[in-house]
Amino acid sequence: MTRKLVSLAIILPAFLLAGCEFGTKVVEQTGPRGAGTFQVANKSTMAVVGKVPDPPYPLTPDMLQGPRAKETYQNVKVLGDLSTEEFNYTMASITNWVAPDGTVANGGCNYCHNPENMASDEKYTKVVARKMLQMTRNINSTWRPHFQASLNTGGNAGVTCWTCHRGQPVPKYNWSESLPEPNRLNGNHHGQNAPAQTVAYASLPNDPFSALLQGKNQIRVQATSAYPSSYKSPIETTEKTYGLMMHMSQGLGVNCTYCHNTQNFANWSQSRTQRVSAWYGIRMVRDSNDNYISALGDVWPANRRGPAGDPRKIYCTTCHQGVNKPLGGYPMLKDYPGLKGTPVAGPAAPPAPADAVPVAAAADTAKPAG
Ligand code: HEC
Ligand code: HEC
Ligand code: HEC
Ligand code: HEC
Repeated sequence: MTRKLVSLAIILPAFLLAGCEFGTKVVEQTGPRGAGTFQVANKSTMAVVGKVPDPPYPLTPDMLQGPRAKETYQNVKVLGDLSTEEFNYTMASITNWVAPDGTVANGGCNYCHNPENMASDEKYTKVVARKMLQMTRNINSTWRPHFQASLNTGGNAGVTCWTCHRGQPVPKYNWSESLPEPNRLNGNHHGQNAPAQTVAYASLPNDPFSALLQGKNQIRVQATSAYPSSYKSPIETTEKTYGLMMHMSQGLGVNCTYCHNTQNFANWSQSRTQRVSAWYGIRMVRDSNDNYISALGDVWPANRRGPAGDPRKIYCTTCHQGVNKPLGGYPMLKDYPGLKGTPVAGPAAPPAPADAVPVAAAADTAKPAG
């Protein structure tokens, strides 16, 4: 009897400590042996790669000929250089992606248009959509280095409205600032130490995004000298950095070792190239949030803002949705040339290459031209 109790007392905590995570694990080695760079994934909790919708109808080469949209229509500011046929094809596509008729209330062309006057900008959704067209083109041109996985193989995965929207006017995965917590008798958590889904239930600040996925704050945890004179990463920044890292891992469905060698997290020369993609990804997200979504300002109606009054913004999960390559890396952009944008000289600066960039000098100014 006591023997049974003793063995139970040993086995039970073992299960509890292991988090009781049953299910088949898949282990994949991604780096040199002994470097500890491998991926462990639980088959039962792996995200499913989303479906890619078919184009509304085939876009044939002869449809790219003929008068330009800016000649045919009255109020075309972004897609003016497309042929009229390609313009209409693009309208049909964005309708399917953002406000499909029959799925979304008041969906279809009229979600953005007054059918009496297609040129009118009276619906805010049309004004937003125009900015989104610019944002999507900017992502596909300025931020090409984020898509290096497919660029290396000659393709350009790129993104379309579908990558974020998936048939909904408001993408499912978004963030906005939260109101400061009120002081209560049982204490104030100051936005942390309460399990939050946003940071994969870690005891970390549950909103690392306001500080790190807009603006130019540094994402750093380590001092580069032993003495505090150059120490610019206080505990708050450190916690937020880890919070963001948890989000990135969760958003891509990967472990830290997908990008880092845990022997030295900061060291770029020991990191995988995926970390470089991620570095560009962070800047792409900041650019999109600051210069497109937040820049729309008063255009956003009250019901499209979070509790603190700011619009809903993007983070890694908005596109990735739990997989390392959104939509399984399907190069969706190839069918929608209108969303490519004009290639610009991409960001010249690679990520701070040295492991020991003096913290003060590492201020985040690297912004690509264009
Ligand atoms: C998600 C919002 C949205 C939906 C849905 C949408 N459009 Fe548009 N539409 C726009 C935007 C934005 C422009 C302006 C594009 C620009 O400035 O380059 C536009 C412009 C137009 C124009 C040019 C009007 C003019 O004279 O300036 C036509 C025609 C048009 N759309 C047709 C359609 C049709 C047909 C549908 C349905 C199949 C549709 N649109 C669905 C956002 C939308
Ligand atoms: C606008 C959509 C979008 C957003 C937002 C986004 N990504 Fe990506 N990301 C992609 C696409 C599409 C690919 C696939 C590229 C390819 O196949 O070439 C990708 C690829 C990657 C890769 C390379 C994966 C591999 O296995 O080679 C990494 C790493 C990555 N993203 C990290 C991030 C991080 C971190 C964030 C948030 C800071 C982020 N991404 C935000 C669209 C996005
Ligand atoms: C990188 C992610 C991303 C991409 C790509 C994207 N959007 Fe959005 N879009 C958002 C987010 C996030 C919101 C919600 C903002 C809010 O509600 O405050 C939004 C909102 C909108 C809205 C407002 C809907 C409403 O009912 O208020 C329209 C219209 C829209 N997008 C159109 C488009 C079109 C058209 C494209 C492609 C040309 C596109 N979006 C591409 C992230 C994206
Ligand atoms: C998808 C790639 C990716 C994943 C996954 C990832 N990181 Fe990072 N990590 C980065 C990038 C990129 C930076 C540099 C951020 C910057 O400077 O903008 C970084 C920076 C850091 C830093 C700061 C180093 C310094 O210079 O002070 C630490 C610490 C860190 N990551 C830890 C982690 C931990 C812990 C995990 C797992 C929970 C993780 N990372 C997961 C890409 C990743």
